[in-house]
Amino acid sequence: MKVLVTGGAGFIGSNFIHFLLAARPRWSVVNYDKLSYAGNLANLASVMKHPRHTFVRGDVCDAVAVSAAMRGCAAVVHFAAESHVDRSIYEPAPVVHTNLTGTFHLLQAARELKVDRFLHVSTDEVYGDLEPSGTAAEDSPLRPSSPYSASKAGSDLLVLSFVRTYALPALITRSSNNYGPYQFPEKFLPLMITNALAGEALPIYGDGRQQRNWLHVEDNCRGILAVLEDGRPGSVYNIGGHDVEDNLAMARRILRLLDKPDALLRHVADRPGHDRRYALDSSKLRTETGWSPQIPLDEGLERTVAWYREHPGWLAQVLDGSYKIYYAKYYENRDAALSAFAGAPERKE
Ligand code: NAD
Ligand code: TYD
Repeated sequence: MKVLVTGGAGFIGSNFIHFLLAARPRWSVVNYDKLSYAGNLANLASVMKHPRHTFVRGDVCDAVAVSAAMRGCAAVVHFAAESHVDRSIYEPAPVVHTNLTGTFHLLQAARELKVDRFLHVSTDEVYGDLEPSGTAAEDSPLRPSSPYSASKAGSDLLVLSFVRTYALPALITRSSNNYGPYQFPEKFLPLMITNALAGEALPIYGDGRQQRNWLHVEDNCRGILAVLEDGRPGSVYNIGGHDVEDNLAMARRILRLLDKPDALLRHVADRPGHDRRYALDSSKLRTETGWSPQIPLDEGLERTVAWYREHPGWLAQVLDGSYKIYYAKYYENRDAALSAFAGAPERKE
């Protein structure tokens, strides 16, 4: 079986390709990725010459190239996206374009080429804030807060429209916050780890009491494969971790693992529109496929911190000029940069 994986040079996509090549020895992968700032072939160094992995550089918004890459594939797993909430606030246009138009072109190609399975990778963020308690199930209302989560919710609805209108055998996974190796350091956990490793301040947005449902990326990869193989076409499946933990507690765990002082914690101006709390109900996936998360947070964090420590070359390459420019603008000059956004909250210490 040949699978088209979009966004396979990113964080979850590259982890999925490593996982799939090992878990399904008869499957081959066509990896279609634009190599945006977040795409990195170094994530795939050990499989670039693998006989069952072919890399194709291309944009999901290029309908002709998408169709050519998909030809001959029985299944599609669609990860490619602009995936960062903060960047979607600072510059929403590429986020809306890739996440909506790109998904649309993939759906069109999948329909024309009659693929057997189309798995769209989405996020718990489409459900929005769940305050002060409760969990989101697959039929909970979609209440996205950021341009990122709104574009993902829109792409989910496009997928479901193709199921209903054209009987496309598509499925959707909505996972909670992933962590693990190869994650670009604009995201919270790798940013905390890389700053702590360098002895630099750990920027905590607002009061740091926002909660996320942490999931090791390997547990997500296993969930995605379970849905691809055993999910019911037309269905949505949540994939959530065991632990809902607040950002301050997560940052403190990182500092402890690296033997660094809490004095490195630095409260900075909050993200505009910041969601306070996400928590997923994954009982549907558990019941239908037997999946459950296998990696406890303590163990997963220890392994992740060790991975970043042991890969200074990967890190040095990723923390390049463009990341430095981004970091300087939105962290070193945060108040000035955020004042451009209407509704930006006051800085809270
Ligand atoms: P990432 O930013 O690390 O990787 C995205 C990949 O998509 C990159 O390799 C990039 O080059 C590629 N890409 C971007 N625009 C493209 C385009 N126009 N054409 C082709 N390729 C393009 O993201 P990630 O964290 O690996 O997330 C993967 C998917 O999982 C996304 O759809 C995201 O919405 C979803 N998701 C992520 C998380 C998380 O915690 N990271 C949680 C839930 C859902
Ligand atoms: P992030 O990794 O961007 O994921 P998401 O917003 O999609 O859940 O952020 C996770 C949490 O960490 C979120 O509440 C925002 C917060 N955060 C910080 O406090 N400081 C930071 O520098 C970043 C990037 C995020």
